[in-house]
Amino acid sequence: MSVTISPSLLSADFLHLEEEIKMVNESAADWLHLDVMDGVFVPNISLGFPMLQQAAKIITKPLDVHLMMVEPQKFIPFFQALGARSLGVHYEACTNLHRVVAAIREAGMKTCVALNPHTPVEALTDILEDTDIALIMSVNPGFGGQQFIPRTTDKIRRLKEMIVARGLKTLIEVDGGVDMERGKRLAEAGADILVAGNFIFNAENPADVIRRMKEEIK
Ligand code: DX5
Ligand code: ZN
Repeated sequence: MSVTISPSLLSADFLHLEEEIKMVNESAADWLHLDVMDGVFVPNISLGFPMLQQAAKIITKPLDVHLMMVEPQKFIPFFQALGARSLGVHYEACTNLHRVVAAIREAGMKTCVALNPHTPVEALTDILEDTDIALIMSVNPGFGGQQFIPRTTDKIRRLKEMIVARGLKTLIEVDGGVDMERGKRLAEAGADILVAGNFIFNAENPADVIRRMKEEIK
């Protein structure tokens, strides 16, 4: 089975957002990754809600939302209305993570828990059963185009072992600094979903890069 590819819109050309979204719609991508930031949890702000509402109208791929925000529970209704397939919240941003994850499931979305690079995958031990997707950050969140942190590959291996040993169905998603070679190694280590921003959108032919990732990463 090939890996799931989720292009991150953060690296798109925002002056030509419609064309960029249509490119993804017509590409071999499985999902579309939307990064939402608040300037508090991360030192950056990405797309605001009015922009997201407009963009969502023309996105035909399943929406893979990654909230880099404090108190993400406040925004569950917004992303439910937006039609998100999965809603990712950071482990580090939620005091009552179990409650937040239950609310996401209750709202009909897949649950996704994201971990910063310094957070060990073992932190997911007691939430894994309620987690559809574990989103492992391979850069510090906040910006596209950063260097992949090599230790992530070992984290993916450890997490995969935990999931298999417990017979769970949690999918592993990796986000940050992913290119073709890293993608291959991450898939070998157990990654099911790869997010890629810079590698796709800054390529000469982004649709072709997506197609090659689908074909070459097993
Ligand atoms: C970073 C975001 C990522 C980012 C990935 O905070 O969560 O999704 O857009 O971009 P690249 O692939 O360029 O590292
Ligand atoms: Zn992301």
